[in-house]
Amino acid sequence: MTVFQTKSLDDISDAIQAYNDLAERLTESQRALKREVLLLREELAEKNRQLARKNRLAILGEMAAGVAHEIRNPLGGIELYAGLIQRESADAAPQAPPAQRPLPAAKIGKWARRIEDATRDLSRIVGDILDFTRPLEPRMKKVFLSQVAEAALDLADPAPAQNACDHQRREAFAAAGGRLIRVAWDVSDEVPVAGDFQLLQRAFLNVILNAAAAIRASASPQKAGTLTIRVSATRLEDLPAQRIAFEDTGPGIGAGDVEKVFDPFFTTREGGTGLGLAQVARIVAAHGGRITAGNTAAGGAVFSLTFPVAEAARAKEKHQ
Ligand SMILES: Nc1ncnc2c1ncn2[C@@H]1O[C@H](COP(=O)(O)OP(=O)(O)OP(=O)(O)O)[C@@H](O)[C@H]1O
Ligand SMILES: [Mg+2]
Repeated sequence: MTVFQTKSLDDISDAIQAYNDLAERLTESQRALKREVLLLREELAEKNRQLARKNRLAILGEMAAGVAHEIRNPLGGIELYAGLIQRESADAAPQAPPAQRPLPAAKIGKWARRIEDATRDLSRIVGDILDFTRPLEPRMKKVFLSQVAEAALDLADPAPAQNACDHQRREAFAAAGGRLIRVAWDVSDEVPVAGDFQLLQRAFLNVILNAAAAIRASASPQKAGTLTIRVSATRLEDLPAQRIAFEDTGPGIGAGDVEKVFDPFFTTREGGTGLGLAQVARIVAAHGGRITAGNTAAGGAVFSLTFPVAEAARAKEKHQ
């Protein structure tokens, strides 16, 4: 009996020892695992940093190529007309000293205007690029998306015809002095979102001007174009959100272009720089929102911009 007990005690202490060894080995392997996870996490963060750097470089490269391409055309114009002025004034009176040569006034005036146009194009491109590269610092307040849209329509059409608006919700506008475009509103369940009024107004203006250009390009003189603005409640990452959609009756986004419309310098418009929607996408991202592009069943384009409602945005901030 005693022998059995002694053996049993030995067994127990062996078992305890074995258990302790195992526990220690487990703790050690857990520590090793933790170290490994930390290393992997650091490696992943570094890889992500490298990827972000690569993406930035790719975007910068894309921008540089775009800038070079955009600037070449107006520069060509400046060179051509400056050359014409020089040659013409030299031919006019080759024997006279330069200060006394008569200038063909009408031609000089025309070429000077062309030079002015080309330099204006260049300044616009440079301005757009500076705008695009400047960091955005949104100052968030409670804003109603439909009010921002109305203010953007005011900017699109600074001098509306008397009957073009009803002061509550504008019913029509004419961007850049073009034909009147009808505005149809569909606003339901509207609550404020957290947003910077000026920045959102700039973003909506870009979308509205694109819609106006698309409608102008495709509408027949008899058929009026329509821009439909819908505001509705939705969810974004499972939080309450508001969506504003701009639908137009233009020809829609070209097949295969939907993926590209937000890329800097992507444009199919004569005289376009292709920075409008890239800037809109930046503004939406700075608001923690989402933007999508597509075509309606009727064939026109639709741009949907979704923003967290003011309370949800604040709750999310507190949580972070
Ligand atoms: N409402 C629309 N209907 C059809 N295509 C559109 C519409 N809005 C944008 N697009 C397409 O997306 C392209 C990019 O638009 P974006 O606003 O970025 O540049 P842009 O209007 O061409 O030039 P800008 O820099 O002057 O705005 C347009 O050239 C056009 O091909
Ligand atoms: Mg545009």
